[in-house]
Amino acid sequence: MPDLTHVAKLASVLCCGVLLAGCNFFGSSEASDAQKRGADLIRANGCATCHSIPGIGDARGNIGPPLDRIGTRVFIAGMLRNTPENMVRWLKNPQAIIPGNAMPNMHLNDAQARDITAYLAELH
Ligand code: HEC
Repeated sequence: MPDLTHVAKLASVLCCGVLLAGCNFFGSSEASDAQKRGADLIRANGCATCHSIPGIGDARGNIGPPLDRIGTRVFIAGMLRNTPENMVRWLKNPQAIIPGNAMPNMHLNDAQARDITAYLAELH
């Protein structure tokens, strides 16, 4: 007869794992308010039309690069060091940085660009 206590322990560990995995980053309290606002702004501004972005519904746009690991990328658009300040600059006016590139100036204000930056920084 197998040791049922052992099986029960294993089962509870597995369940915990599934629950934790299910409780994704953005549903959890770990996501800061800025990140949550950032996610809403990403949805509201249609970034998903051009980018695939984890955590943003079915964002599968393929005009711009995927943003799935943008938090670890060294350069933004291959041009700017990937710092929060530079990401804000890029988001506020990508045309000023690479004139003629396909990402439009979305007219984000500073606070909006910062919230989106907080969201993107967590994509690893
Ligand atoms: C009309 C299409 C379009 C829209 C809408 C758009 N982007 Fe982009 N985005 C691009 C393109 C194209 C690039 C690549 C620019 C380049 O490298 O020259 C880009 C680049 C980026 C980059 C740098 C990516 C990298 O790999 O370095 C970030 C970050 C980014 N976009 C975020 C956003 C966010 C956030 C929004 C919404 C506020 C948004 N984009 C809206 C087309 C778009």
